[in-house]
Amino acid sequence: MKQKRKLKRKIKYTILSLCLIFLIAFVLAFGLKTCAKTKEEKEEKEVVKKETKKEVKQEIRIEPPKISEEERKKNFLENIDERLSFFKEEYLDRYVAYKEKHPTYKTETVIVDVNMNFDYPFYENTKQADRLNSSDILVNKYHYLPNDYVPKNLTAIKEEYAVSGMKLVDYAKDAFEEMASAAKEEGYTIRAMSSYRSYDYQKNLYNRYVRQDGQQQADTYSARAGYSEHQTGLAVDIDNGKISYTDFENTKEFGWMQEHAHEYGFILRYPKSKVDVTGYQYESWHYRYVGKEIAKRIHETNMTYDEYYVRYVE
Ligand code: DAL
Ligand code: ZN
Repeated sequence: MKQKRKLKRKIKYTILSLCLIFLIAFVLAFGLKTCAKTKEEKEEKEVVKKETKKEVKQEIRIEPPKISEEERKKNFLENIDERLSFFKEEYLDRYVAYKEKHPTYKTETVIVDVNMNFDYPFYENTKQADRLNSSDILVNKYHYLPNDYVPKNLTAIKEEYAVSGMKLVDYAKDAFEEMASAAKEEGYTIRAMSSYRSYDYQKNLYNRYVRQDGQQQADTYSARAGYSEHQTGLAVDIDNGKISYTDFENTKEFGWMQEHAHEYGFILRYPKSKVDVTGYQYESWHYRYVGKEIAKRIHETNMTYDEYYVRYVE
């Protein structure tokens, strides 16, 4: 009996031991598998990461397709409106280069700017003014007059409307006197206080300003010799005979000129809002004779003569 019980207990322990061994084996097998799986996943993730990085790197390395010079020219030409009659074939390279520097500019602006020489700094790539002795001549920081240029038919302005010795080209002088006379009838005083200036006169004046303020500053308000409109005999500085011409903007005469100057063929040549175009600070006193038709169009469109010239005269 005792032996039978002993045997039973032995069998029981043996079964229990076997169960335990089986359980340990199972746990170990499962643990190892999970470990291997995690490692595998980790490795897989690393590979994905590396590949993504590679892709990003490749993406960064992708450069925009190179457009050839010929294609750039072709693209530019395709955008030209047929009405842009002031387009100049010989400036095509300059248009393309300027457009690259200013991608937001309209084609028309690019053409006008380059025709004005704006792709060059002031006083670079200059040329002699065309249309000498003509009322539509353009003189600015890119167009100069010969040293010995003296306009034809310079005539003194009546002293009633000018300080002594002021001269303009005859037709501009007539228009000026007519304008000053009309202003006088309405109670305004328009007086010429500087008009035609020779090359040498302008040279001395400019050099004096350079000595006084330095060249950089002088260039903002005085023309270099040969580059002054005053040498054309078509420009006139005015005051009202009472206060300095530099304060002309604050006179009632200035208001009258704003309203009527164009009716006599004169334009305000260096407006406040166009300093970047003209290269000169605002001069409320400097007027230029261009003839009634052009003066009217400039008055209506708010262009400078530089802008008008490259569009309609040149
Ligand atoms: N003050 C003008 C720009 C001139 O010197 O001609
Ligand atoms: Zn002037």
